[in-house]
Amino acid sequence: MYVPEEKISEILNTSDIVELVSESVILKKSGRNFFGLCPFHSEKTPSFSVNPNKQIFYCFGCGAGGNALAFVMKYHGIGFPEAARMLARKHNIPIETKDLDPAKKQQIQSRESLFRLNKKVMSYYSGILKEDPAGKIAGAYLEKRGTHPDIIDRFCLGYSADKWDGAVGFLRKEKVGRKTALNSGLILPRKQGQGFYDRFRNRIMFPIFDINMQVAGFGGRVMDDAMPKYLNSPETPVYSKGRILYGLHAAKQHCRQEGSVYIVEGYFDFLSLFQHGIKNCVASLGTALTSEHVRILKGYASKMVLVFDSDAAGINAAKRSIKIFMQEGVDTRILVLPDGNDPDSFVMSRGRDAWDGVAKGAKTIMEFLLHLSMETHGLTVEGRVKILEDMKAYLAEISDSALRSLYVKELSETLNIDEKAVLEKVRDQVNRKGSHAPRGRLEEEIPKESDPLEEQLVSMMLNFPETIPDLIQAKVFDFFQSDRLRKIAQLISRTDPGDSGLVNEILGRVGGEADQELIASLAMKGSMAKEEEKVENIHETAGDIIKRFIRVRKKNENKITTKIISAERGGDADVMELLKLKQQEIQEYSR
Ligand code: CTP
Ligand code: MN
Repeated sequence: MYVPEEKISEILNTSDIVELVSESVILKKSGRNFFGLCPFHSEKTPSFSVNPNKQIFYCFGCGAGGNALAFVMKYHGIGFPEAARMLARKHNIPIETKDLDPAKKQQIQSRESLFRLNKKVMSYYSGILKEDPAGKIAGAYLEKRGTHPDIIDRFCLGYSADKWDGAVGFLRKEKVGRKTALNSGLILPRKQGQGFYDRFRNRIMFPIFDINMQVAGFGGRVMDDAMPKYLNSPETPVYSKGRILYGLHAAKQHCRQEGSVYIVEGYFDFLSLFQHGIKNCVASLGTALTSEHVRILKGYASKMVLVFDSDAAGINAAKRSIKIFMQEGVDTRILVLPDGNDPDSFVMSRGRDAWDGVAKGAKTIMEFLLHLSMETHGLTVEGRVKILEDMKAYLAEISDSALRSLYVKELSETLNIDEKAVLEKVRDQVNRKGSHAPRGRLEEEIPKESDPLEEQLVSMMLNFPETIPDLIQAKVFDFFQSDRLRKIAQLISRTDPGDSGLVNEILGRVGGEADQELIASLAMKGSMAKEEEKVENIHETAGDIIKRFIRVRKKNENKITTKIISAERGGDADVMELLKLKQQEIQEYSR
């Protein structure tokens, strides 16, 4: 779906990047920029920055960067047109769409039709619960469990009737296309003969909303002991288990207010906590938590409390999830509920105050793991050695070395083992882990596409456009060795700043994500320097930088001449040929 140029500018001019990013990242102002924890990689200290003047973001840690549209694309994992439409919708900017790439268009349309279909089906299921006599038993079930009517309404719970063709008939009546209907996973082709049947039958229905309040999928629970107890939508183009957290759309503002989030497992756990006013909560829906989940949550809360049942399954689930949280370096607490309770049964039977009481006793990850290990091995000398063996595997998972040493300290104090000895054990483990995946090697082998001096020049162009004529006059771009930077520099020199400012104009013109990120980084680097030093005479400074640059390039050329001489002496014909070509190239540029 093609979005016209002028609409893109309008979208970019209307949206404010600080406001936009703030919806998913906690930002703090520092100087001219805002800083926060990067949503695109795991980190403990904020290196993600947003510049309100240039309307761009850039992460000094992972290099992600760009304008508001790039942020939306990256954050939601969607393409350009869809991101543009999302922002346009938000700011009430109408866009007529012209046809573009048919495959892309199809993809967007199929996502949109799935969202539309899911919304209709949600009303269908909730209609049965509220109005249809068939829904009576479901209403009674929810009442028995103590689910308040306000909660039923707020989270649009419903009921799928006890028949094979409820949703099938509804979708037919609504004239939903067969392909969309099948894609939704709500109906399935009959195993024998023709036609379709309902996936969800005789179940309490929970619509699963995404962060934009669109219905991504459904879960359904039986009302007796039938198996499986819960059934969920399959993965679809709009529903991916690894990204969605049940209830986040409603909980996000509360997570922000509290600065913390409870992560529970089930639908009813979430709903019952919410009903009791514990609204900073999400449910993982029984699936293993992913780093993606954690990164999404980081945008709303810096502290996370994992809540588990006290049975063996709960403890095992806790152990599995802990690694992810350690890797992501978030302040994580583990809350194991007493007496075989889950959050739903606990808060329903004992109320909010009791909840707050046990929540205070949530353990740090280290305390929790140590406690478990201590229960198994005891605190004898042999026991403590075994505990250390258990713990080193976890510690080795932490990628942030500062954080790791904090944990090492805590562990050595608790076990009363020398810190150095603990550290050594953990290092061994890290090295063993590392030896399977030789990291960093590959990065070295990739030829450098960039050059610090050339980057500095481009950064100057973006931050002080008044120096661009100076650069053009000195024919500086001809000396560039990085093709990529030369192209960018030339593009900048030809671009008219327009309404949205030079940086945004440029970002609107380069296609690739890598170039977007490079430009954002160069624009941001300059803006950081600008805070410290006031530039008195920019043309003079630019002149100095240009002179130095050309001098270095010419010196390089001399180096090549020396190499040619020595290659000639050594009779290395191929090398000589190459060097001569290179020299010619440089001479042509400097003319
Ligand atoms: N779950 C699932 N499929 C199952 C069992 C569980 O998808 N067969 C998910 C559901 O999201 C469920 C969560 O895992 O809510 C936790 O499962 P469990 O503890 O078994 O259920 P509860 O949430 O306690 O459900 P209830 O209180 O309704 O018995
Ligand atoms: Mn339960």
